Amino acid sequence: MQPNPPVPSDDDPVGLCLAGAISPEVALSRLLLGHVTGAGIAAMLEQRRSEPPAPRWQALADLIRARRPELERLSAEVVRAGSNHARPATDPLAGAAEIAGFFDRAVANSPEASVALYSLGDPAILATATAEILDWLDARGLLRAGADVLDLGCGIGRLSAALAPRVRSVLGLDVSEGMLAEARTRCAPWPHVHLAHTSGQDLDGLAASSLDLVLAVDSFPYIVRLGPAVVARHVAGAVRALRPGGALVVLNLSYGRDSAADAADARAWAAAHGLALEVAGERPFALWDGTAYVLRRPG
Ligand SMILES: C[S@@+](CC[C@H](N)C(=O)[O-])C[C@H]1O[C@@H](n2cnc3c(N)ncnc32)[C@H](O)[C@@H]1O
Repeated sequence: MQPNPPVPSDDDPVGLCLAGAISPEVALSRLLLGHVTGAGIAAMLEQRRSEPPAPRWQALADLIRARRPELERLSAEVVRAGSNHARPATDPLAGAAEIAGFFDRAVANSPEASVALYSLGDPAILATATAEILDWLDARGLLRAGADVLDLGCGIGRLSAALAPRVRSVLGLDVSEGMLAEARTRCAPWPHVHLAHTSGQDLDGLAASSLDLVLAVDSFPYIVRLGPAVVARHVAGAVRALRPGGALVVLNLSYGRDSAADAADARAWAAAHGLALEVAGERPFALWDGTAYVLRRPG
């Protein structure tokens, strides 16, 4: 019997991609976040070439070739902007302002990459990733024609716009005015999508029992950065705003913490608010490596 090949470590995105654990897009975004340049990525891949090239190797090579100028631009931008997403904020208001400034600059540079670096600035890659999130929500019965949805940390509004034809209303909230300006343009065809600025401190402005779905796609890690009190206020506000049977869906709960700590938080929220924890830490997507949590208010 052949021994199982060793599982590549987390600091080897190329190995993880070749082993089928992450997509080529996510592998490239992880390398960019590790400050590897486009040329460095191409050289790294060349060292892993086999004869004939494996299909996953070829997919990575093709993507690098197709997005090469964008990879160079994004790698310079990642180095310039810095990445301190996992660092806790000392003051929640100042922390939210700092995060808003980061995203104001990011959206001016590349709207698609500002919400999903793994899109590599390509609208088609982002559309594929958005579609897999929508399909997953749909398969879980979370999209209904009569549903009212909060898109928490809506960014450029790619999810608000994608949800719009499927639900009754969408409210997109964000701390970044730059993101909201881009979202207003993208959601302009949908009068039942409302976009508003939030201080990022709580969800106190939401009416009680007014929503069927609170969706936080890759925004909760920034709320976590603002500290446990801000997290607790957001969870309590979301639960208060949900109708019976409604769901809080968090896709990526934190950055840089281990998955057991995230799952423990989700269990604690469920216990504190009488929610059913239906999904705790799955990675349901093929393109994006987002981790899913679904908490449902009993019907
Ligand atoms: C990585 S982007 C994701 C945007 C969008 N959910 C998507 O997936 O396309 C994170 C977004 O969360 C927003 N954000 C960060 N902290 C926030 C907070 N406390 N309240 C609301 N939005 C926040 C950022 O401004 C940014 O637009």
